[in-house]
Formats: sequence, C-alpha cells, structure tokens
Amino acid sequence: MTRKLFVTTALPYANAAFHIGHMMEYIQADIWVRFQRMQRDGDARRIVHFVGADDTHGTPIMIAAEKEGITPQEFVAKIAAGRAQYLDGFHIAFDNWYSTDSPENVELSQGIYRKLRDAGLIQTKTVDRFFDPVKGMFLADRNIKGECPKCAAKDQYGDNCEVCGAAYQPTDLVNPFSVFTNATPILKPSEQYFFKLSDQRCYEFLRGWLNTPGRLQPEMVNKVSEWLGEAGEKLADWDISRDAPYFGIPIPDAPGKYFYVWLDAPVGYLASLKNYCDKQGIDFDGLLRDPETEQIHFIGKDIVSFHLLFWPAMLKFADHPTIERMRVAVHGHLTVNNEKMSKSRGTGISPLRYLNLGMNPEWLRYYIAFKLNSKVEDLDFTGEDFVARVNSDLIGKYVNIASRCAGFIAKKFDGKLATSLSEHAQSWIKRALVTPEGVERQASIAANFESREFGKALREIMEIADFANQYVDENKPWILAKDDSKLAELHDVCTTALILFRQLSILLSPVLPGVAANVAKFLNDEQFEWAQTSVANGAAANALLGRSIGAYAHLMTRVDPKMIEDLFDAPQAAAAAAAAPAVKAEKPAKAKAAPAVQVTETGIEVIAPEISVDDFFKVDLRIARIVNCEHVEGSDKLLRLTLDAGEGRLRNVFSGIKSMYQPEDLIGKLTVLVANLAPRKMKFGISEGMVMAASAVDEKSKPGIYILNPWPGAEPGMRIS
Ligand code: 2FM
Ligand code: ZN
Repeated sequence: MTRKLFVTTALPYANAAFHIGHMMEYIQADIWVRFQRMQRDGDARRIVHFVGADDTHGTPIMIAAEKEGITPQEFVAKIAAGRAQYLDGFHIAFDNWYSTDSPENVELSQGIYRKLRDAGLIQTKTVDRFFDPVKGMFLADRNIKGECPKCAAKDQYGDNCEVCGAAYQPTDLVNPFSVFTNATPILKPSEQYFFKLSDQRCYEFLRGWLNTPGRLQPEMVNKVSEWLGEAGEKLADWDISRDAPYFGIPIPDAPGKYFYVWLDAPVGYLASLKNYCDKQGIDFDGLLRDPETEQIHFIGKDIVSFHLLFWPAMLKFADHPTIERMRVAVHGHLTVNNEKMSKSRGTGISPLRYLNLGMNPEWLRYYIAFKLNSKVEDLDFTGEDFVARVNSDLIGKYVNIASRCAGFIAKKFDGKLATSLSEHAQSWIKRALVTPEGVERQASIAANFESREFGKALREIMEIADFANQYVDENKPWILAKDDSKLAELHDVCTTALILFRQLSILLSPVLPGVAANVAKFLNDEQFEWAQTSVANGAAANALLGRSIGAYAHLMTRVDPKMIEDLFDAPQAAAAAAAAPAVKAEKPAKAKAAPAVQVTETGIEVIAPEISVDDFFKVDLRIARIVNCEHVEGSDKLLRLTLDAGEGRLRNVFSGIKSMYQPEDLIGKLTVLVANLAPRKMKFGISEGMVMAASAVDEKSKPGIYILNPWPGAEPGMRIS
C-alpha cells in the first residue's frame, strides 16, 4: 500500500501580499510535506500532492479592483504574479498554485451545491439586507459603519465593535452609513440561499466525524463540540448567497445570486488539485476515490468554523469520497515580539524585507520549526531568540562538525573517506543514533515529524549533533593532523564525524532543504531519503565508507545581529516618534533635507501634529471650476489649469498631475483650490494657488495622484470647512 497525501494550506485572500504569518503556515506544511516525500511505502515512494491557490472572490477584492480602475480578474492576476518570489524565496515546494476564480472551481462548487440541493439541504429565505441606494448594491457587514449599539463608539464596522468587542448585526448599528458613499443604507428584502446546517443529519454526521481519533487536535474537538450544542441545537443555517454585483461564482438556477466567498474558497483546494491532476495526467476522480488517499488541511485557528463545520458537512452531503480520510491541522498565530499581528494589515516582519536583507530563508525555517508543536499554540518571534537559536544550533552545532573535519579529508586523503572504522568510532556512532534505552533516536525523530512535533524532532536532532561535537572535541583532529604517525586515526575521526554529519543532514532535510541538497552534492549522494537513516546493520556508517567526496564549501553563515536591527527598523522608528506609536518605516529623505515621512502600520503617512481650528482656517480652501486645461510645453509632469473660483477673475495654476489625467477630461470639472497660497514663480509662469490631490506615501509601489472632485451641488467660490 502506498500512502497518497493531498495536502493544502489555507488559501490566502488575493488582496494583499503575503505577510510573515502566511510564511509560518506554509513553512509548517512544507516541512511536513518534505518529510513525507522522503518516505517510501514498501518499495514505492510515498505520493504527495501539495497544492495552494489564491482566494479571489468577494466584495473587498471587487471594491479594491474598482478603486484601481481595473477588473477583479486583472486585480487578482497582479497579486498572483507576486506570489512566486515568496514561495521560492522560502523554499516552499507547492506542486501547484492556482486560483478560486477558475473553471475548475466553478464546476466543482456548482456540482457540490447541486448535490446539497438534491439532498434537501438548501433552503431559501427572504431576509432584510442593508442596501446602498447611491451605489445600488447590497452591503457586506464590513461595508457598513456606524455607532456601536453597546458602547456608542463611533465609526465601528457592521459586525463587531473594535472598542468594546461586542458582536452584533449591521442592522443594530446606530446611524449606519455606507463606507462607499456615506449614504444611509436602506433595508431591502432579498431572497437568500441557506445551507441547512441545522438539519439533524448535519449534527449526527459532525458529531461522529469530529470525534474520530486522529482527525483533529483534542483541544479543537472540545472547542467545536461546544458549537454543536447538546443535540445540534446550536447549529444555525448558513447564508451562502450574495446579491449582484458580486465577484463570485453564480448560483445555478438563481439569476443575480452568487456563492458567498467562503462557499467556494475551500472548494478551491479541490480545484487546484484537479488543475494539477489534469496537467500531470493523473485521474482526479480516481485519486479522490482511492481509499489510500488522505486529505490534510493546514489552517490557522481563526478559520476553524469554516473548516470544521461547513466544509466537512458540504463534503459529506455532496458524497465527496475523501471526507472520512480528511484531517485538519490547526496552528496558532505568529506574534512578533509578543505583539499580535494583524492579518489584513500585514504588520511585523515583512518576508520580502527579510529576503532582501540577504537573510537565509532556512534560518527562519529552522527557527519556526524549532518553536512549532502539534498544539494550537501561538508562536512568538523575537530577534534575540532568533539569532541565538540559529547561531547556536545551526552554526555552532551542525555546520561546525563538517567545517572542522571536511578540510582534512581533502588535504590529507585526496578527498577519500576511510574504508573501515575503528571499534571506538563505531561505538560513538551507536551512542549518537541509539538512545541508552536502545531506541533508535532517528525513529523517534520520524514519529515527531509525522505528528508535527517539529520542536521535539529538532531537539532530538541537536542531541545527535551534541554527540558528534563531543566526539570531535575529544578526538581533536586538528592535533592529530600535526602528527604524521596519526594519519590513520585522523582518517577514522574525520570519516566518523562526516558520517554523523550526513545523518544530521538527512534528518534536517525537511527543514533545511537547500542546505541538505548542498550536503548531498558535497558527499556525492543521491537525493536524501529517510530510509538512509536506518541504523540496522551499520547502514548509516557503511554508506560512506571508502567514498570519494567533493570539496567542502561553506554551508551557512551566522546571523549577524545587525540584520535583525534592520529587520525591525519599523518598531524602532515607532519608538522614536512617540506621538505616532504605529510608525513602521521611514521614507528615504528627499534631496535638500526634506523631512523623512513617517508611515503608520496601515501604510499611510502618519497624521500631522494636532492644530487648532484657528490654524485650520488660515488655509482658505475653495471650490473651483477647471475652465481650461492644457499640456505645458517642456514639462513631463505639469498641466496648466485655468480656474474659476467665483472671484470674477480666472487663475493660472500649475499642477503635477500630467501622469494621471488627460487635459480634456478635466475641463468643466470642479475641484478644490488652496486659494490663499502665496503666488509662486515657476519656470513656466506664475502659479496662483494649488489644486488639492492625494497620493500614497509609497509612490513606488502605489503610484498615482488623484485630484479632488466635490459632490454635485458645490459651486465655484464656496469655502470648504
Ligand atoms: O482567512 C483567509 O485568509 C481565507 N482566505 C482562507 C480561505 S481557506 C480556504 F477555505 F480557502
Ligand atoms: Zn462598542
């Protein structure tokens, strides 16, 4: 029998780049997958299909695309194009990366829906929904704001209050408004499609499914069991529909209705697998039907309800064949310096910054693995701890073995290892690989990789490294090398040390794939397999005896603590700017000592120091009509605007907006003029004021300058206050 593993990580929303929390999940899954790929079942290599995809649908992506003036498809394609640099950068070896906005996902989602409908588990109900009368669309919870019904905090979202933590319905908000238009939303009845999770069949199934041993971590079984209630009375029907306009998959036989993004997102796991199977010539349906196929989802603790209630119930009642062989591995969150990271804001360490600083991705893989266990616990990254762990374990213990011995094999023995070992050497190998209780340490390490107890596995691996170092310390090859009569001993010691080093490299392969590949090359090994860790009949030692090996090249450098300073220059900037605690990065100062611009965690320029109303009124802002607009000869930035601000005269104003607007598009439009700015002599003439325009602080990644345009009804000359 050959185990076949279908492994996934949560599909990230296609509205932002990856943050360090994503990388943690991918590294965890990738280590497990690489461990599995090293296994054989009988003679056959274990089969692993590790797939991911972008989670593309839903209102936020639709709105983000609209803001950029592109289609949602173009928007998600842009995000997708940025994924490889992270995945390749951190050595994450997905077999396929796909998209939920794909024909496979449409077919599979609609197919599952039809089966649920046939099973009598879809029901329609008419419910009142908030509707933006100006934009002409139904509003998602996060598109509505207002005052918290519990604590009266202003500007709170429609689902919960960030001040007092209360959860409520959008219709409970006081003075609600649409975040798009500020209009007061109206209630409009809408027919919605529900998945009947309250059906007793769902409860019966879920109770048994959740309680199957090995399916889930025990703490998760307890938590989710509470959500079921004593007899399923706590399970509520799930609204799976959204009204047009919506970027999503149409619901069959329901014009104008789309699947809620969370309905088609997990189906995206299957869509990515199907896409991969089709490309590889693998029979997708056959693979799912195969009783040897196991389905494993790695997810964070925040999306448990979707994966442990809705998704299994959907699969069960759509007769999905792997449902009984599905497991879910839930992990905690990554905190940075004990601060909570924000999923949507991407705070903390930027993975790209890490790579751009030249930091070794396998340092992070090791550090994360060292801190991971199979429980749903948060994992904290701190700079000092990171430096200490990597330098002590990987450099001080692991690499140190090879760097102290490999050179002598090249110099004194023409690159050839000894053909046999002394008894003394053999006894050290045994001590390193077999515990005093006679248990093969390597088998225990394998069991810990399998059960995702990576921290435990690495501690055991480091025990072997400690033995190896102790052996080298006691036998001092650098002293033996000085005495020609001790050459045989030197050969024995260096060969033994490299045998242990090779074992360590095989064991570390799932965590340090790049380093392990270089070690395999240097030792003239094929790709490492787990079977090579076998201690039986001296297999570990015999493999290397008499072998010619390549020149040793340095495998890994120490972490320079200065790198960590650069990695964390965000919080340091924050500390310096006491008035703005959320400061993250500094924009490089412009020429002539322009003050550096401080940026908040949310990526906007830090709000300027407080001013009084009197200060504000010193600036005279007026509505102005653009009566003419033309290119400025000799300038690639400026447009010349002729403005009417209701003064009985026209003003000439230059504005650096040429990259964004065609002159003819602006003529006749209203805008905002700083009317009492001192006239400024420019190369092309005098500018009598300034038109107001917005731009992002990080112009490189978010180029664009946007001129203000007042609502209809405003007239030239009106003052803005
Ligand atoms: O929470 C999230 O980031 C979701 N995009 C995860 C989806 S997982 C799966 F269902 F697609
Ligand atoms: Zn509140």
